[in-house]
Amino acid sequence: MADSPVVLLGVTGGIAAYKAAELLRGLQKAGMEVRVIMTNAATQFVTTMTFETLSGFPVRRDAVNELRADSRITHVEDSREADIMVIAPATANTIAKMANGIADNLLTSMCLAFNKTVVVAPAMNTNMWEHPATQHNVAVLRDRGVFVVEPGAGELACGVYGSGRMADPDSIVAEVKLRLQVQRKRDLRGLRVLITAGGTREPIDSVRFIGNRSSGKMGFALARAAFDRGAEVELIEANVDMPAVPGVRQIMTPTAGEMHAEVMKRLANTDILLMAAAVADYRVAEGPAGGKIGKGRDEWSIGLEATTDILCDVAAHHEGQFIVGFAAEYGLEGLDRARAKMEHKQLDMIIFNDISRADIGFDSDFNEVRILTRDSEVLVERAPKETIAEIILDNIAQAVRARRGETMLPA
Ligand code: CTP
Repeated sequence: MADSPVVLLGVTGGIAAYKAAELLRGLQKAGMEVRVIMTNAATQFVTTMTFETLSGFPVRRDAVNELRADSRITHVEDSREADIMVIAPATANTIAKMANGIADNLLTSMCLAFNKTVVVAPAMNTNMWEHPATQHNVAVLRDRGVFVVEPGAGELACGVYGSGRMADPDSIVAEVKLRLQVQRKRDLRGLRVLITAGGTREPIDSVRFIGNRSSGKMGFALARAAFDRGAEVELIEANVDMPAVPGVRQIMTPTAGEMHAEVMKRLANTDILLMAAAVADYRVAEGPAGGKIGKGRDEWSIGLEATTDILCDVAAHHEGQFIVGFAAEYGLEGLDRARAKMEHKQLDMIIFNDISRADIGFDSDFNEVRILTRDSEVLVERAPKETIAEIILDNIAQAVRARRGETMLPA
């Protein structure tokens, strides 16, 4: 990365495009060099001249014209030079195209060619923002690792009061600074991190299973964040419906038994284990029946047997690895249970989350956790799972450093 980080600022066609000028200034004040790409619709709201004058660089807009002008493949070359891409304002239309991989203008082509951090600041009318299609597209982008700066509520240009107003430029600058800091951190370089994610499913027959509601989002956010910080990451996943994480080796383990085997196989070559998966505590005692069990009975009892507790087995075999468990507990009274689990399973850290709350946790993009160690407790207030992942890794990196008596992790 160059001394001054290079930001590609994508401006799309919404009234908030005028605020992108203030954002550009804010990014420059924070020490970044900004190159602007506008969609044709954006140029209806603000002229290219505004951004050219402020940024000191030509504004890029249409792929065909660009190719004629300097005969370079702009969307590939510019994306190589930049450290981060910010799309602000991002219209519902551009968000939909990004979610579907459509590349019908220079900006959306760049989105496909760009393989580093992307930050999106949506701005649109409240109904468009709340529409299930937009919410779905935003969720797809988040799952793919795009950072979304949520729009705020206020009076919109269309006269109504509601959410959809682009986040204020200062908070977008703050998000970009945070993401660049993370890119530069590389504080897990040289460390091998093993992460489990998702929820195991224990088959009853060929059709049915005993499962749980874990989506895998927290584990995937941790995997992405650990990779960005320089770790060598392996992700053991159970039934997760999310796009692959670039740079991370993924191993599918649908059941608790398979997950157990894959974790134990890798334990000796692991420095940090994060057991974020919801592992079934029981499976069908006599093994799953082949085919499909028919009904034709008034009652049905299924005998269950305990699965191996992976963390307990890890505790019996590990040699100095840093071991992190997760405790999904109902209500704050679960904190003591989480601490007891940390003792019992000989964990270095346990991440507590309260599953009695509907606004965080299962299937949500948000979480609120308490990071517990033997001698500390850190509350991480409700935030996107990506932010929670960063803070968990900050705490782990610090604890690993302290254990090694190092001020810096190995280069
Ligand atoms: N875990 C595990 N192996 C299992 C079950 C759980 O390693 N067979 C791990 C989870 O990945 C998580 C932690 O243990 O990191 C959760 O602890 P656990 O005691 O299983 O929690 P619950 O089942 O939610 O709690 P309890 O049964 O005590 O109510």
